[in-house]
Amino acid sequence: MSAPIRVSPSTEFARIMSVGSYRPERVVSNAEVCKRIDSTDQWIQERSGIRERRYARADESVCDMALAAAVVAVERAGISPAEVDTVILATVTHPYPTPSAAAEVAFRLGTAGAAAFDISAACAGFCYGVAMAQDLIRGGSAKYVVVVGVEKLTDWIDLDDRSTAFIFADGAGAVVIGPSAEPAIGPVVWGSDGEQYAAISMTQSLIDYRENGGERFPTLSMQGQTVFRWAVSQIAIAAQAALEKAGVSADDLDAFIPHQANMRITDAMIRTLGLPAHIPVARDIATTGNTSAASIPLAMDRMLSSGEVAHGGTALIIGFGAGLTYAGQVVHLP
Ligand code: UT7
Repeated sequence: MSAPIRVSPSTEFARIMSVGSYRPERVVSNAEVCKRIDSTDQWIQERSGIRERRYARADESVCDMALAAAVVAVERAGISPAEVDTVILATVTHPYPTPSAAAEVAFRLGTAGAAAFDISAACAGFCYGVAMAQDLIRGGSAKYVVVVGVEKLTDWIDLDDRSTAFIFADGAGAVVIGPSAEPAIGPVVWGSDGEQYAAISMTQSLIDYRENGGERFPTLSMQGQTVFRWAVSQIAIAAQAALEKAGVSADDLDAFIPHQANMRITDAMIRTLGLPAHIPVARDIATTGNTSAASIPLAMDRMLSSGEVAHGGTALIIGFGAGLTYAGQVVHLP
């Protein structure tokens, strides 16, 4: 007969306790980007909504930026770093396949040896992390989870490629997720469409790069229109499903915080969702660019810090990108 196994006591609910973010100092205008690509400030603003973005310093790493955001989030949560038992870090730009960026961040943050791992779900990564954190807490495997979305995309884009150079940028955002007396994170709606894996991909692998004698360092390539069409047609459907699963209507929302991919994608989603005009919508992309996994917590922190949205309000968050992958849920804001 099998030996009986004791399991951890489960917790019913989880909530986002706090958010923190880090924006690199250097502001890069459209005019500066256009020095290297055949484009204009007007085209970039009309097609993407981006006016400027932030670039990290050469000596500023994914881990440095993640740590800066996580330190703020942990302070605001009112817990000590030693109480953090899990660090989940979403990124596609950490330059080492191993060890994980999360392990370094967990150490430098001052956790007492927290469980730590990275997830690769591109621009959906933050929402994947939120879903996993809530289930780890509810299942009894974790109590306080730091979820970080961080990217240093400038290391992996070709600044002379007009299809990507104007859109992507650098930054980090982090939340602390912990136990809650009431439901504060709705069911996740997530998935992938691997048939379209080539829509956002790398020009070659690092192995190919080595075998080719170091010709053309791998950079991000994107079939912009393919991704745009998929996002506009499919992601609003997933967002609607996340609302329905949480039993929340678009009218009940205090904020809509989609991945900051392109202002026109956000506007198309607003129309499909029938979002009432008075509900604040994240438009952080205008001054931050597209920071992939970092964009949602960066936008969340800005909306809360500026007073645009009240603490404790109800928000719909949804991420989507390379894979293609997507994930979204309704949350109570910290
Ligand atoms: O975050 C991860 C997920 N990523 C996304 O969600 C991004 C989704 N895609 C997009 O946001 C858009 O596709 C872009 C903003 C990347 C591009 O906008 P678009 O409206 O789809 O542009 P397009 O590629 O259809 O190009 C339209 C025109 C073309 O010229 P013609 O053929 O109409 O004469 C391009 O050659 O604009 C031209 N073009 C440019 N012109 C000036 C393409 N790139 C540029 C540029 N500057 N940088």
